[in-house]
Amino acid sequence: MIRPAAIGDVPYIHHLLEIYAAQGNLLPRTMNELYRHLRDFFVVEVNGQVAGCGALEIFTESLGEVRSLVVDDAWKGRGFGRLLVQRIIEEARAIGLNRLMALTYVAPFFHKLGFRTVPMDTLPEKVWGICVKCYKYNNCDETAVLLELK
Ligand SMILES: CC(C)(COP(=O)(O)OP(=O)(O)OC[C@H]1O[C@@H](n2cnc3c(N)ncnc32)[C@H](O)[C@@H]1OP(=O)(O)O)[C@@H](O)C(=O)NCCC(=O)NCCS
Repeated sequence: MIRPAAIGDVPYIHHLLEIYAAQGNLLPRTMNELYRHLRDFFVVEVNGQVAGCGALEIFTESLGEVRSLVVDDAWKGRGFGRLLVQRIIEEARAIGLNRLMALTYVAPFFHKLGFRTVPMDTLPEKVWGICVKCYKYNNCDETAVLLELK
């Protein structure tokens, strides 16, 4: 079941993100930041247990980003990552965004969901708003993927 995240999910979301941030797959996020952005987040719940999370962050009137997408190792490969992104796409459409992007090391996963790889410099909102503050800014090796929503 995919549902909006709740306050009580934050310690576990934080734990999940820490694991993948330590491996360099995701940017780390503090507990405080997670509480402030909680309404961006969806979680997938299996038998009352959270198995993964993903967030929709809004940049501009037209561009949103899939962020903090993680499925717990124990639950990978069962379609939960797809369900999370599908819910984020649904939400992005519902609120009227035109485009949805992600910066990722798993572009083939996003391609299966209809995203296409695009040059990073076609996403100036992202690059100038957020990337300039990122520790990877000068040597970013992630791939930008984009889904047109309209
Ligand atoms: C990427 C991630 C969220 C995928 O979650 P998942 O639940 O295992 O993926 P799903 O089972 O929903 O997979 C959906 C499809 O994508 C494919 N897929 C999943 N992970 C993939 C990968 N790393 N590379 C290529 N294809 C992948 C699956 O084979 C499946 O394809 P199919 O429909 O043809 O069988 C998960 O592996 C993860 O948490 N990775 C670490 C964190 C990360 O890199 N997050 C992305 C940040 S942008």
